Amino acid sequence: MNNISLKSWSLETRVIDLIQEVGQLFDDCNLCYGHGTEHPLDEAAALVLFVLGIDYLDAEEPSFSKVSAVEFKLIEKLVDQRIQERKPLAFLTQEAFFCGYKFYVDERVLIPRSPMAELIRKQFEPWIDSASVERVLDVATGSGCLAVAIAKNFPGTEVVASDVSEGALEVASINVDGLSVREQVTLVESDLFENIEGVFDLIVSNPPYVGSKSYQALPPEYHHEPDLALIAGQNGLDFIARILHDSPPFLKDNGILVLEMGEVAEEAEKTFPHPFKWVELDNGGEGIAVLEAKHLK
Ligand SMILES: C[S@@+](CC[C@H](N)C(=O)[O-])C[C@H]1O[C@@H](n2cnc3c(N)ncnc32)[C@H](O)[C@@H]1O
Repeated sequence: MNNISLKSWSLETRVIDLIQEVGQLFDDCNLCYGHGTEHPLDEAAALVLFVLGIDYLDAEEPSFSKVSAVEFKLIEKLVDQRIQERKPLAFLTQEAFFCGYKFYVDERVLIPRSPMAELIRKQFEPWIDSASVERVLDVATGSGCLAVAIAKNFPGTEVVASDVSEGALEVASINVDGLSVREQVTLVESDLFENIEGVFDLIVSNPPYVGSKSYQALPPEYHHEPDLALIAGQNGLDFIARILHDSPPFLKDNGILVLEMGEVAEEAEKTFPHPFKWVELDNGGEGIAVLEAKHLK
């Protein structure tokens, strides 16, 4: 494919028009979204605002201000990469927004997008008495997004975050420092619970849950993320099975496990005998179950 060009830059090129043009181009190219933005215009705004140095979350109304020639060139280059390489925007900008915080990301981690963000903001109420939470475990932490956001929303709480991937833990470490929660968050290299010690009030996990066949059929954007972060055996249930089996000794008697299962939730319900309580989310997303320690033990 030839390089993608936008309409020529002029002194009159405005941010708002450029966002519209890029959004239309993305739409025409049938890109896949869901890695931080939900539709072409949203993605176009995130890209343009990144180049202008405006945090996507802080942006209010689209701006009528002008774009400089240098900014225009950079925007054009990123648009070209986004379309030709089908790389998620977050990997081009190396930033992702989650739970109101900006995280560093690169291709060693899954781009943060878990609907668990809504539960974190609500401090997992009414599922747990948030005031009583002392220790939290995030299994398969990736970028550290859940662990860091939990640390921010539960000041003073100790958070342990584990992952088997050294690369993911390096990224998580950047975020632990970048978001100033080093005193609260401990990162542990571990195959699920293998190197974890002690008991927790709350265990969260967004483990890999894509079946190997479904993985092959995913749009190209997903193939820029580590397969280790996505694939979970043939039917997507491998890690869920292990977490359900291995978590009980790590939960306090009144503790809870909050487990994300996405699109394999229905299959999980048919396969495992556990009394899953499915969380209803105001902001969309599904497949998150809460399990009480007494039902797991
Ligand atoms: C779906 S990603 C979730 C990342 C992050 N918690 C989030 O919500 O964005 C799953 C993570 O599981 C990790 N993982 C894969 N196999 C693992 C294992 N055996 N033990 C621990 N973590 C594992 C991957 O490295 C990846 O970071």
